Amino acid sequence: MSSKPKYVQDQEMVPGVYWVGIVDWMVRIFHGYHTDEGSSYNSYLIDDECPTVIDSVKYPFAEEWLSRIAACCPLDKIKYVVMNHAEGDHASSLKDHYHKFTNATFVCTKKCQEHLKILYGMENATWLIVDDKYTLKIGKRTLKFIPVPLLHWPDSTFTYCPEDKILFSNDGFGQHYATSKRWADECDVSHVMHLFKEYTANILGLFSAQMRKALEVASTVEIKYILSAHGVSWRGDAMGLAIAEYDRWSKGQHCQKKVTVVLDSMYGTTHRMALALLDGARSTGCETVLLEMTSSDITKVALHTYDSGAVAFASPTLNNTMMPSIAAALNYVKGLTLIKGKPAFAFGAFGWSNRAVPDIVAELRDGCKAEVYDEKGITFKFNYTEALLEQAYNAGVDLGKRAIAYCEKNAPKQ
Ligand code: FEO
Repeated sequence: MSSKPKYVQDQEMVPGVYWVGIVDWMVRIFHGYHTDEGSSYNSYLIDDECPTVIDSVKYPFAEEWLSRIAACCPLDKIKYVVMNHAEGDHASSLKDHYHKFTNATFVCTKKCQEHLKILYGMENATWLIVDDKYTLKIGKRTLKFIPVPLLHWPDSTFTYCPEDKILFSNDGFGQHYATSKRWADECDVSHVMHLFKEYTANILGLFSAQMRKALEVASTVEIKYILSAHGVSWRGDAMGLAIAEYDRWSKGQHCQKKVTVVLDSMYGTTHRMALALLDGARSTGCETVLLEMTSSDITKVALHTYDSGAVAFASPTLNNTMMPSIAAALNYVKGLTLIKGKPAFAFGAFGWSNRAVPDIVAELRDGCKAEVYDEKGITFKFNYTEALLEQAYNAGVDLGKRAIAYCEKNAPKQ
């Protein structure tokens, strides 16, 4: 310990386990995800008789990552590099640098090895292929492996250290959050939980069944710390909160009495109708959220539709269909299956071709598998009227009631 520089000692997460990751303060787009608060690519060094690195980092940060490890332990003394996932944010630094771990064995599942080889070559690497029955002894500690396919890729794996009760969860329990803190309980926990929900909706929302399976497997071991590969890690009460959220999310029991309207507008008339609809929804006791795509983005669409009990999409007709931003938003929530089964409504203005709402309805119904209970929606030529505003208000009341009914139907069973 004493031979390690202070900045390394300061990153000791658990006795003998050091954070050697990267905080990416500047990233603002992460494969389409708007990372407003940056991110981190967390890697860890276990300082045991067989010094072991857990996960790598994104390629541009390879040198910094290697120097952090070397400050803990010379690279030629690293015995194992455990890879929980092959995606570039956790593995691409291996491509040109894996050989610098001159005496290391790369440890991963067969599926992860397949992906690592395709993506990064690693022709001369030494491998140890593990599965859920394998135990790797690294000194006074051992490591076990819990494959969690599709959390986030087919190769995703948790690594568990029973002696320290650490779950290295990689993408699991992550958040896109650049911070100098390493633990959720060192931060404003409610803010971390917000980022955690946003991350889960956007990255893992599609995989609730896999999340359920992962939780069930992880529940068979005692966990004191969850060391994630993105954002801050978890211990104590904050870890309990995070596990409870995963439990609700994985069971589809997370919806709030909340109505989200996603819209674009050309001259403000569709926007004005949305305000009336939201007033109606609010009157039922629902929280209401308006996401205007000129000032919002698909990441926020995923965040808010994820826990809404009902949604509406609105657009005026442009070029005989909906506006491109609404098509993109629908496409995104369709892929993530975020509004499947939820009450959904459509409305919007038109000039001479009344096409936006029918096209939105078709995508909500057939693509997103939402419950479109009124296929006509509300359409209006050019401008709203007092009567139309009243119609929108009443549609909001109806949508709010449906949101509440949806939430009650999907609430945790007592
Ligand atoms: Fe953080 Fe699936 O990579």
